Amino acid sequence: MLNLGSVGMRKGMLYETVVTTKSRDGSPNAAPIGVICTGEGEVALHLHQGSHTVKNVKEERRFVVNILKDPTVFVESTLGNLSLDSFEKYNQDFYVKNADAFFIAEVTYIKDMEKEDQFGLSTATVLKAEVHDVVKKCECVEPLNRAIYGIIEALVYLTRMDMVSGDMEKLYRHRMSEISRVVNKVGGTEHKKAMKKISEAFSKYDDKSE
Ligand SMILES: Cc1cc2nc3c(=O)[nH]c(=O)nc-3n(C[C@H](O)[C@H](O)[C@H](O)COP(=O)(O)O)c2cc1C
Repeated sequence: MLNLGSVGMRKGMLYETVVTTKSRDGSPNAAPIGVICTGEGEVALHLHQGSHTVKNVKEERRFVVNILKDPTVFVESTLGNLSLDSFEKYNQDFYVKNADAFFIAEVTYIKDMEKEDQFGLSTATVLKAEVHDVVKKCECVEPLNRAIYGIIEALVYLTRMDMVSGDMEKLYRHRMSEISRVVNKVGGTEHKKAMKKISEAFSKYDDKSE
């Protein structure tokens, strides 16, 4: 059987995917969800309360992770649901028709937990799931990870620091610290190392704000 390595997922990294689930009445649902690769055959999810996804996953104890880069699928599944003809049946589950790859995940552990983050205190459903049936529909599959985009954005801000002042400079500092937070949350060792170098170079501009 193919493992998560075969679809480009590496242990410790968080990927932006579209998760499809099925409700009790059998209708499919899609939503963008961050999937943490915790091993070659295991993923972890943190689900906020109130979504169709968390309800379906608690009831069915299974879901499908779709790896894709289609912006329309991300937008439509965030703002509402995908149209029925965007889904395809795979045995008892549904996947997104134009996914580059997908896999079936069966929940092995699930718990509601209080967590504190930058948004304050909330309850999240934390789960672990075992990976089954990895299906590749494209030869070259690359799951979305925000770290490289963050690093590119951070470099753009860094190289513009000589050109900005006042409120714009404040905004750049604020964005830089948010990018650093994201890269350290979702990236791999090489992303974190790269971000550290950027932050060091950025700190040369600390005097500018004093
Ligand atoms: C890129 C991206 C990643 C997301 N990751 C998560 C996540 O990890 N957990 C979660 O609960 N919601 C996440 N969301 C928010 C859900 O996708 C959003 O609440 C969605 O509307 C839920 O849809 P549903 O009610 O059909 O399940 C994410 C949204 C985006 C755009």
